[in-house]
Amino acid sequence: MHIPVMLNECLEGLITDPSGIYVDGTLGNGGHSTAILERLESGGILIGFDRDVDAIERVKDKLKAGARKRVELVHDNYANMAEQLDRLGLGKVQGLLLDLGVSSFQLDLAERGFSFQHDGPIDMRMDQTSGQTAAELVNTADEQELADIIYRYGEDHASRRIARAIVEARMKMQIETTAQLAGIIERAKGGRKGKKIHPATKTFQALRMAVNDELASIEQVLEQMVERVAEGGRIVVLTFHSLEDRLVKQFFNRHVPREESLQQGGVRRIYEEPLVKWIWKKPLTASNEEQGANPRSRSAKLRVVEIGA
Ligand SMILES: C[S@@+](CC[C@H](N)C(=O)[O-])C[C@H]1O[C@@H](n2cnc3c(N)ncnc32)[C@H](O)[C@@H]1O
Repeated sequence: MHIPVMLNECLEGLITDPSGIYVDGTLGNGGHSTAILERLESGGILIGFDRDVDAIERVKDKLKAGARKRVELVHDNYANMAEQLDRLGLGKVQGLLLDLGVSSFQLDLAERGFSFQHDGPIDMRMDQTSGQTAAELVNTADEQELADIIYRYGEDHASRRIARAIVEARMKMQIETTAQLAGIIERAKGGRKGKKIHPATKTFQALRMAVNDELASIEQVLEQMVERVAEGGRIVVLTFHSLEDRLVKQFFNRHVPREESLQQGGVRRIYEEPLVKWIWKKPLTASNEEQGANPRSRSAKLRVVEIGA
């Protein structure tokens, strides 16, 4: 089961007009979307995106049944959001929600290959209908490229050692399963003893981010939607690790006016159009109670901006 993270905080942050148009960029198990629909009045519209066709199939009946509101579900990368909204004949919208990363459903299915807790083929594609799998990446990328990916997206300082171990292992036989890969990484990092997180955690995160080109997609959807959300509307983003959070924070900070002192005296306001303002200066985190009940919420950070000065 996927429990929606910081559900009330997301809804408070997102919905400013209950008869507006809202986009859930990450449908997943439909937890946030179901709650958005419940809050919308007739006339309200919900558009849900997911790159994973299984997610759309799983939630479509639940979301469309008896909603008495317009619900459109789109199987696509949220990086194509503006184009898809055009196709649906929609102009400005009142809000966008992004709950980044993978769903528990994806993590728990061994055949999706996201987790070393469940042995399966190393796939890791959110959209299984296209693109390179993590197995293809692990078995074909050169050592330098692997090290760069592990360092950049996993921030693992043992990236070179891990990349070398992967390349040496695959010379003997193809690396096909998540357990095989986790074992190679664990040995390269000198075992698990005394470590709080599994030695393969950061490499798995890095491969997933590379295979799905995750940071680029986030940047693209924010660039499009900062233009597409109406004045007074909100963009709500839940992130689960520092790379995502930094990207979101830096992106919006470019749109928040700041003052620069001029040599000749006085100040100048600098910002990129359109202007946004932070609803909360610091990101919100889940309550102790939620963190106890849902471990996934422990690393969550919620950032919300409103479009307009
Ligand atoms: C954390 S889950 C969302 C859970 C959802 N909020 C809920 O309450 O059930 C993230 C979902 O976003 C999808 N996703 C991730 N990156 C995506 C992208 N670039 N475009 C579209 N969907 C994406 C994943 O396939 C996954 O189903």
